[in-house]
Amino acid sequence: MKTILLGIESSCDETSASICIDGKVMNNIIATQSIHKEYGGVVPELASRAHQKNIILVVDSALKGAQIKLSDLSAIAVTQGPGLLGALMVGYSYAKSLAFALNIPFINVNHMKAHILAHFIETPAPIFPFLCLTVSGGHTQIVKVDSAIDMVVLGSTIDDAVGEAFDKGAKLLGFPYPGGPQIDKYAASGNPDRFPFSESQIKDLNFSFSGIKTSLLYFLRDHLKKNPTFIEENIEDICASYQKHLISMLMKKLVSAAGKTGIRQIAIAGGVAANKELRKQLKLLSQKHNWTSYIPEFEYCTDNAAMVAISGHLYFQNDSFGNLTDAPKPRMTFENEK
Ligand code: KG4
Ligand code: ZN
Repeated sequence: MKTILLGIESSCDETSASICIDGKVMNNIIATQSIHKEYGGVVPELASRAHQKNIILVVDSALKGAQIKLSDLSAIAVTQGPGLLGALMVGYSYAKSLAFALNIPFINVNHMKAHILAHFIETPAPIFPFLCLTVSGGHTQIVKVDSAIDMVVLGSTIDDAVGEAFDKGAKLLGFPYPGGPQIDKYAASGNPDRFPFSESQIKDLNFSFSGIKTSLLYFLRDHLKKNPTFIEENIEDICASYQKHLISMLMKKLVSAAGKTGIRQIAIAGGVAANKELRKQLKLLSQKHNWTSYIPEFEYCTDNAAMVAISGHLYFQNDSFGNLTDAPKPRMTFENEK
């Protein structure tokens, strides 16, 4: 009998559903909430309301696209956390109710693990154990991945996530939220060595990104005093220089983590893994250090339900199911899952 999983993601501002049949992801339907653009960040209340409107439509579209009936489903996998409580509750309550009505199991998925397990959507998949640099709007972590279930965080940010540093920097430059992709785009034709930004020196495998964001703030303030059109005239070089230092901080810690653990299978995951320069730098480092690198397709970097559906498939094989009394965990970590 086939194992047919429905995956649902609603932790932040994407409502998404995906069908996975025997480990093969059939589709990845995403409704993006553009409403947050005008507010310069995700507004939790608006996110929950938009999820309410979209959830049935995306699930219906995923089912129809894969020619699957509700009665064909073996289980439903859903993001339990971390994320915005109101946003999580929409997908989570929907998934639990549907599983209850269909009398099938549901599976709790940790969003940060799902970003990593997105590597199992396509082949070749990484071989355990591997290291994954997980970089998103809310997290920056180096994770040692021993299995689909057992993962250990070796280092993480002590303040802002790198995606936040991209987005807050982009806001200072006048880009709408989320500005990370805009920095990526303008940096492509800029000179990364033109403006120096100080990189934080944090111990061990941890990161800090609040300092560089502040240095961009002061840098812009000083230049704008002398020249009010400084940003427009130098946007490419500012983006390239700022981005270069963000990526350099990530890469230095990744090299240390590989050195300390002796692991040479290196992956990146999460929204910032869509950054073209980060992808390029990882390939260059892989050549230099003889790593095998794993870089997800763009559509599986930012939030999506395909990564939840594939996680559900892997957990289904391990008989790892949720209880109908479980609740979303906005501050879910790798340690407080149970
Ligand atoms: O994983 P994700 O979709 O959502 C969270 O779980 O946070 O990541 C979103 C983050 C945002 O900060 C966004 O600006 C960033 O990923 N991002 C990028 C790029 N594409 C998305 N940052 C830099 N370059 C990109 N191309
Ligand atoms: Zn995410």
